[in-house]
Amino acid sequence: MALPRKKFVAGNWKMNMTSSEVAPYLEVFRQETEPVNNVDIAIIPPFTALAKASEILGGSQKIRLGAQNMSPEAKGAYTGEISAAMLRDLFVRYVLVGHSERRRLFGETDELVHRKVVTALNSELRPILCIGETLEERQAGQEKAILEAQLEGALKALTQEQLEEIIIAYEPVWAIGTGLTATPTQAQEAHQFIRDYLKTSAGVEIADKTRILYGGSVTADNARELLSQPDIDGALVGGASLDPRSFAEIVAAAVPAE
Ligand code: 13P
Repeated sequence: MALPRKKFVAGNWKMNMTSSEVAPYLEVFRQETEPVNNVDIAIIPPFTALAKASEILGGSQKIRLGAQNMSPEAKGAYTGEISAAMLRDLFVRYVLVGHSERRRLFGETDELVHRKVVTALNSELRPILCIGETLEERQAGQEKAILEAQLEGALKALTQEQLEEIIIAYEPVWAIGTGLTATPTQAQEAHQFIRDYLKTSAGVEIADKTRILYGGSVTADNARELLSQPDIDGALVGGASLDPRSFAEIVAAAVPAE
């Protein structure tokens, strides 16, 4: 019998919060999450707030740091880009790769997403690979084909060891920032499809271990039901992570039942 996967709740602040807002946020969030054990927690601030968060958290194991994006290149003449080494220097552990906002608004292709995954892994950053279908794709019955193509594009040719480091976030584009959450049944179905894909492509062991997070209008009100689905191993929270109390409530909803 495989060990249960530890739940993982991450807050993607997107393009919100200045550096000076980090300390008051963390003061409340640390207090509110003080009693929580057995859940992996990460905040994913914008680049400009990472240094402050890093200084306050000081490499904390309880609240870890993620970045929202990263260059696929190691260093050099890439104006405006941020490298994996720069993130590592701030004790960043995770990096979002292929968020739908980056795919849609900044033209990120599966090929670029793949290169970023590889760069992250080579730099000891754990990629949180974001995948998800649009409303039109779902209405056309193509959601599984889209998920499969995104998984295949990003994860091709990775070794077993590399695959073990990957975290996947299923974020249906139609549920992001819209207040329209996938129902627990819709989300579970997609998560199970992703796990089955991993079983076939990477083997049962990897499929059993990999955490698959759900993202898209997760709130303190709907988190518990989503997180109780067998293949939902955590949440990637946007809007509701901007309020430290709401975000802490979502973290609390991930605590395993006694
Ligand atoms: P919302 O929770 O605001 O819908 O955002 C989800 C998301 O995109 C997290 O990465």
